[in-house]
Amino acid sequence: MNDKFSKIGFILAVAGSAVGLGNAWKFPTLVGQNGGSAFILLYFLLTFLVSFVLFIGEICIGRIGESDPVDSFRRLAPTHKEAWSKAGFFMISGLLIYSFYSVVMGWILKYTITSAFSLPSDMAQSGEIFSALLKDSPVVAIACFSVMSLTCFYIVSRGIKSGIERLNVWMMPALFILLVLMVVYSMSFDGFSKSAKFLLVPDFSALNSKSVLEALGLAFFTLSLGVTTIMTYAASLPERTNILTSSLNIVFINVMIGIMMGLVVFTFIFEFNADPAQSGPGLIFVSLAMLFSKLGAIGHVLAFAFFLTLIFAAITSAISMIEPSVYYLVKSHKISRLRACAIVFAFTYVLGIACILGYYGATADSFSILGTPFFDVLDYATSKILMPIGGLVIVVFVGFVMRKEAVHALLAPYMGELGFKIWYFVLLRCVSPVAIILIALRELGILRI
Ligand code: PHE
Repeated sequence: MNDKFSKIGFILAVAGSAVGLGNAWKFPTLVGQNGGSAFILLYFLLTFLVSFVLFIGEICIGRIGESDPVDSFRRLAPTHKEAWSKAGFFMISGLLIYSFYSVVMGWILKYTITSAFSLPSDMAQSGEIFSALLKDSPVVAIACFSVMSLTCFYIVSRGIKSGIERLNVWMMPALFILLVLMVVYSMSFDGFSKSAKFLLVPDFSALNSKSVLEALGLAFFTLSLGVTTIMTYAASLPERTNILTSSLNIVFINVMIGIMMGLVVFTFIFEFNADPAQSGPGLIFVSLAMLFSKLGAIGHVLAFAFFLTLIFAAITSAISMIEPSVYYLVKSHKISRLRACAIVFAFTYVLGIACILGYYGATADSFSILGTPFFDVLDYATSKILMPIGGLVIVVFVGFVMRKEAVHALLAPYMGELGFKIWYFVLLRCVSPVAIILIALRELGILRI
């Protein structure tokens, strides 16, 4: 296949996949709830000891398999090829994430448009506006969700080079510039120094065992692991790309953008004495939306810029959730990209509507499972069950099933012999599987530490 990324296109596309709503709201939320910077250090540590290891593992499968996830597993398994090929179907987890993620993108679109004209003036009003969007009528949510979803599928239908790469190559720098401008602007507030202190000066007393596992879960989600995204992008990696430095760049960009997002969000939270420990939607859609209104006219510009940044971050991630399945249909079932997109779109669209109707007052009961709205069911099933299991399967596959010589031949030129041994024998075969099993068991409530 000739539709390959350029070197910089690959880095930006994978960084685009990694940087998303995970950085924009899971990161600040968890940092806020776990006492700030000590949590960030923990997150760095786990990113390097576990997620980065798995990230390189996914790249190996994609780069050496050079095919869609199902076929790559089949090609690389020395025995039981058909059984292993089923591991490629973890790509469906990406579609499930996309189904609720695109609903949130719809909310963000609505906020981007409305924040330019009006912002809520107090917390109660802000809460009501957000709850009206979810509960009062599904029309706006469905309309915005449809626009965002069609946009993502349009981009994916154009293919790797003229769709995915092209979008990332301008959207990632644009996101970065917007974010830098916002960080610089936040520096003019007193809240900035409190925010910087909160994020950069560690307070280890705020950490507990729950934080460790939460940091690991976050490190997993923000690097898009366990859903075959990274391996699919790596299948279109250009020859002779330095896998180690590219991966380090991507992880660095991901962490930096998380911190910059955090700096901006917490500057306003501290400036107006709001609570840093509230959860995702509350932090962004309720508190921030209201706090921007206190800044007068510039608040509208800032709110618009902020939500636009979120849209950019989210789109580049969302397309990476659907590409594995589209690529699989095109490659293994020999259908056109457009048809593949239509099939995947139909599947995720139905699930997305179910997510919206699960929050809408009149239909909430019918679109909930055991009293939990469908949106939350999907969120839980993917991040707490499917992603860790997918990650574990990948670790086991690369560490114990794939031919070690093939992995060595790919990585040793970049890592050196000692680096490869540490990565392979210590991190991939021991540290990662144990850590992943621990998060999964804790998340499922089986392990209580
Ligand atoms: N990494 C993305 C984020 O932080 C989420 C994601 C998960 C993207 C899985 C692709 C695959 O928002």
